[in-house]
Amino acid sequence: MTFPPDFLWGTATSSYQVEGQNSNSDWYAWEMADPGRIKGALNCGLACNWWANAEADLDIAAEMRTNAHRLSLEWSRIEPEPSVFDSAAIERYRAILQACHDRGLEPMVTLHHFSNPRWLVEKGDFNSEIVADYFQRYTAKVVAELGDLIPKWITINEPITYAVLRYLSREFPYAERTGMGALFEAIHNMLRCHAAAYHTIKESYPAALVGTANNMQVFEARPGGNALDRWWARVVDRLYNDSWQDALHTGRYRGLLGSRRFAHLAGTYDFVGINYYTRFYLRFPPPPGFVDREWGEGAIVSDGDYGEVYPYGLYRTMNHVWQRYGAPIYITENGLPDAADRMRPAFLLDHLRQVWHAISFCYPIMGYYHWSLVDNFEWDRGWTQRFGLVAVDPETQVRTWRPSAHLYREIAGSYTLTDDMAARYAPEMVGVMWPGKEPG
Ligand code: BGC
Repeated sequence: MTFPPDFLWGTATSSYQVEGQNSNSDWYAWEMADPGRIKGALNCGLACNWWANAEADLDIAAEMRTNAHRLSLEWSRIEPEPSVFDSAAIERYRAILQACHDRGLEPMVTLHHFSNPRWLVEKGDFNSEIVADYFQRYTAKVVAELGDLIPKWITINEPITYAVLRYLSREFPYAERTGMGALFEAIHNMLRCHAAAYHTIKESYPAALVGTANNMQVFEARPGGNALDRWWARVVDRLYNDSWQDALHTGRYRGLLGSRRFAHLAGTYDFVGINYYTRFYLRFPPPPGFVDREWGEGAIVSDGDYGEVYPYGLYRTMNHVWQRYGAPIYITENGLPDAADRMRPAFLLDHLRQVWHAISFCYPIMGYYHWSLVDNFEWDRGWTQRFGLVAVDPETQVRTWRPSAHLYREIAGSYTLTDDMAARYAPEMVGVMWPGKEPG
């Protein structure tokens, strides 16, 4: 199965999860206030030590023969106090971005990935309309100082997921005001932020590509569910998977009850970023924890009950996004927690097969960024879930390539998926991907 010669083979990370010691961020304050909030009680700490030495892991990405990397900037480092920009932090980011280019890794840069400067939180962050002015100012600074090194931009990572975790379920450092009203207000303000950032980037760099990374999962009624469960799955699907990108497309956000138009929003995307992980089963009324944890028969479930491995869901999502928006697509994240790397080789092969399948129908799937290059700080789940192609021991900082890292190296280096690779890394996939073939 061969991929186009201009396909981007990438990995993805985010600043708070890999840099370490982001002491001006709301996440840092949250962790410090009560270590029991982080599962496993091991806090972010030095994370993967990227602030001191991102270059070492970028060397690994290059050795893995990838040609792209998605990373994020920490707003709280760049602007530690309102209107006070830290030139040393900006210089460090220039060095990291240059290091990507030097290694043949095209950077895709996220401006906001789940963490806020503490001062922004004091000002009400996404529950206050003023946030759009602050976000615009931050973006303008980044554009002026680093824009020449950034061909692809993500304004906000997983806006809907972030809004739910911060303003509704309180699993992340939560805002002063939470609940449905606060949730939709935050989404509205994120749309304002996105539109402001989009235009700011395009004014200086019209050829740069700008979009958002959307967490899009498959939502279905639980196996054997009734009509109410199916209706609920459709409601959640629309609100979670479609509502944000629809708003970027039309300029109008349709929430639960009403809809609202936003100025300068329509058409503010050059591609759709899909972060795909799993399929969720729903029932109505929703159980505690919202999703049903009873998987279908024979389901393969990743570490810590994170989710079902459901590769075809990626194809379904790409197909849906292409039919709905007709825009280029990047898989901006895809991965699973699997410390022992028992499932990841098959996961990689099968998800990339779905990408190949979509490309073979001429859908413009332009690149794939595996989450993640290295194990990193997995938010409220701390270090208990390991998403890296390469394992990291957070205490010693020792890196160990998992078999999947070697597999991804072979794939990215050859732009193909072959039965020989499958036979060596995940023999159970040979007959699935190449029907009739036997492993070996
Ligand atoms: C987020 C990442 C996170 C990953 C795995 C995504 O939703 O963007 O920050 O680590 O999922 O849970």
